[in-house]
Amino acid sequence: MPYIDPSQIPELPLAFMNSDHAEEVRLLEDLGVALDAHRKGGAAQPVLERLALLAVHTREHFLREEQVMRETAFPAYPIHKAEHDRVLAEMDQEARRFREGGDPARLWSYLFEVVPAWFVQHIRTMDHMTARFVAARAAAPSARV
Ligand SMILES: [Fe+2]
Ligand SMILES: [Fe+2]
Repeated sequence: MPYIDPSQIPELPLAFMNSDHAEEVRLLEDLGVALDAHRKGGAAQPVLERLALLAVHTREHFLREEQVMRETAFPAYPIHKAEHDRVLAEMDQEARRFREGGDPARLWSYLFEVVPAWFVQHIRTMDHMTARFVAARAAAPSARV
């Protein structure tokens, strides 16, 4: 059973963003399997390893978006970047809480309630606006993207 419904995530006009979003979903699904096993008595280590992979990929995903926003002088760059920074800090804090306190129920609710709701909303708003702007710039005759 999927933990995140991929049909909720719209396709954007920039391929690299779609593949980053698909990878984010895949990593969350892996985390769901590991966390489910842990809640049934399995080890915490696989959860910790997958949390680290998610943290790395989320940083790379956000950095790629921030790079194209800077390259195209996207006007709402500071707002979009601030939202990325906020989520990275929150994700790091929840991972640290789990490492130190080991509360799988709290981590579960963060990863499969808070994160998916944020993720879908973020893609539909900030990522969507960014992708449309960047794709339009790339299609323009004078574009340097
Ligand atoms: Fe994104
Ligand atoms: Fe974004």
